[in-house]
Amino acid sequence: MQSTKIAILGATGAVGQEFLRLLAERDVPAANIRLLASARSAGKTMAYGDDALTVQEVSADAFSGIDIALFSAGGSTSKQWAQVAVDAGARVVDNSSAFRMTDGVPLVIPEVNPQAIGDAPIIANPNCSTIIMNMVVWPLHQVVPVERIVVSTYQAASGAGQQAMIELETQTADILAGKAAMPTVFPVQSAFNLFSHNSEIDADGYNIEEVKMIKETRKIFGAPNIKITATCVRVPVPRAHSESINLELSAPMSADRAREILSTAPGVKVVDDRVKNYFPMPIDASGKDDCLVGRIRRDISRDDERGLDLFVCGDQIRKGAALNAIQIAELIAG
Ligand code: A2P
Repeated sequence: MQSTKIAILGATGAVGQEFLRLLAERDVPAANIRLLASARSAGKTMAYGDDALTVQEVSADAFSGIDIALFSAGGSTSKQWAQVAVDAGARVVDNSSAFRMTDGVPLVIPEVNPQAIGDAPIIANPNCSTIIMNMVVWPLHQVVPVERIVVSTYQAASGAGQQAMIELETQTADILAGKAAMPTVFPVQSAFNLFSHNSEIDADGYNIEEVKMIKETRKIFGAPNIKITATCVRVPVPRAHSESINLELSAPMSADRAREILSTAPGVKVVDDRVKNYFPMPIDASGKDDCLVGRIRRDISRDDERGLDLFVCGDQIRKGAALNAIQIAELIAG
């Protein structure tokens, strides 16, 4: 990675800034990084170690000489610029939903399906809730195939971008100061509240976030028939998602066996202290690479040992977005 020339499209956003932190941790020299955003940010400087990098407006020339372009500027921007970047010789790792379900575009969680990357010019980074769920479901599915997943999410503001995080913070301060909440990014008050995910609702009554979790998991697992139902909810947490997961397995698996499997799963840390009643929390997952899993227990509503309950927390900006994309970039760079 250190000699790879990297462009970040959406550098000024929440995920873009995390890309920079992750590249700094990997000692990628400033000279090999190009920051791109909209005309609004052109000329702005961003700190990178001891250096200051200047943001450029994305343009047809912006990708020349770039090996890997990390995109996190929304779906329409990805659709506009991905092919331009590929034509300029770059491989694109796209964090938006623009190409995730496109045939021939691999949808990759490096701990799950790294082999799918191949020599594809565009690689899609899955939805944040999908990644965090599957970091714990996949290792279990490898041992005993999962037949059905019932998931409920408790999603942080960061999934809606930097402005949503700022809105949660300022709205919290405003309410504590006795002022009215003034939602502008989210459709309703986010502070001291929770609400059904702010994405469009389909004919079945599912919101698009829920549909993403279902369809993307099937594609990533190569399991078109796995049954999944999801309920996605926003909570007043800045940057880590939590998920309650119920699994129906094709054969029995004890909670102890599940705990053992998850304790050696890459990118996963078991936090499951029943004595101290200490389990995964978004504040513990924030800023961390690992997804935390706990509340690992047999589903006692069943007579057999084919049901498991889990609770997982993962940093939405890190593993849910930037870290996953950087891991893909590392696999591409070799
Ligand atoms: P800018 O700051 O110039 O608007 P977030 O998801 O945290 O809101 O961040 C979105 C990122 O995508 C920002 O870096 C933003 O840049 C960038 N972006 C949004 N729209 C465009 C666009 N049309 N062209 C290039 N970059 C864009």
